[in-house]
Amino acid sequence: MYGLPHSTTGIRGVNQGKDTGPDTGLGAELEGSRGRWLEAGWPRPEAVLVTGSGLNLDLGERVAGPWPFDELLPFDVEAIEGHAATVEVVRMRNGKLVLYCRGRLHAYQGYTAAQVVYLVRLAALLGARSLVITNAAGSLRRELQPGSIAALSDHVNLTGLNPLRGRLPASWGPQFPDLAGAYDPALRRRFIELGDAAGIPIGEGVYLGLLGPSYETPAEIRAYQALGVDLVGMSTVLEVIAARHMGLRVLGFSLITNMGVGIEEGPVDHEDVLKVGGAAAAGIARLTSDLLADHGFWHSESG
Ligand code: HPA
Repeated sequence: MYGLPHSTTGIRGVNQGKDTGPDTGLGAELEGSRGRWLEAGWPRPEAVLVTGSGLNLDLGERVAGPWPFDELLPFDVEAIEGHAATVEVVRMRNGKLVLYCRGRLHAYQGYTAAQVVYLVRLAALLGARSLVITNAAGSLRRELQPGSIAALSDHVNLTGLNPLRGRLPASWGPQFPDLAGAYDPALRRRFIELGDAAGIPIGEGVYLGLLGPSYETPAEIRAYQALGVDLVGMSTVLEVIAARHMGLRVLGFSLITNMGVGIEEGPVDHEDVLKVGGAAAAGIARLTSDLLADHGFWHSESG
């Protein structure tokens, strides 16, 4: 007889024999992490915040943590330069509790999509209902200049990855979630209004998520301009897909650190990306804490 042997139980697991690897899961690990969190009596967050490159925001009173990533994650993690990697629970001015992930894992470091989104999923399983996510991005449009902030209105995922690949617990969400309106228009409007009130102009744009870690070639940047995207980066889209799958509302924004390769003279340099992040941190901290303390953020209707 040729062919694959049949399961001796007669029940074939959905993923049996497929090349789905670790992307399928971490479901059991996540349930374990949730259980340990609750057993420890740590507070349950109502929202999750993920900040990217070089952003270390001072947002309010820390009520639990900080935990280095490797204390919460059931796999090995390595630090990358310029990125903190800690998690804490912060109480905002209005009393709301936010799980603040300072730093993130990137697929370009070698993590699977399921690993990249682990903390967002943990927050969702603990009861978080919204995700605020920031990144550093290159701009493909002259109106969006380095040092400025752009709220994300949509994304194009060209990472080649998807955190929903494989079989996930049905209780987490639908297998084929709708991503129209993934970046909540009401949250985005509120964020732009808060920027106006703080004297910080906020643009809007479509974010292209790439795998990295090499920056783009000039030809790629021209191709992406023709695709109609406004911002390029190496993060965010996987977390947003996982968050929408689990029903979280999403606000994403980019700190623009450079123009896309070839749009202006000179190379794109990781140091410059981190420097712009540091310089803009105070404004972003103000905007983020205004947003997370805002009645409209917690109580507006989607759409
Ligand atoms: N390309 C990709 N990712 C980035 C860039 C860029 O120009 N700037 C910051 N992150």
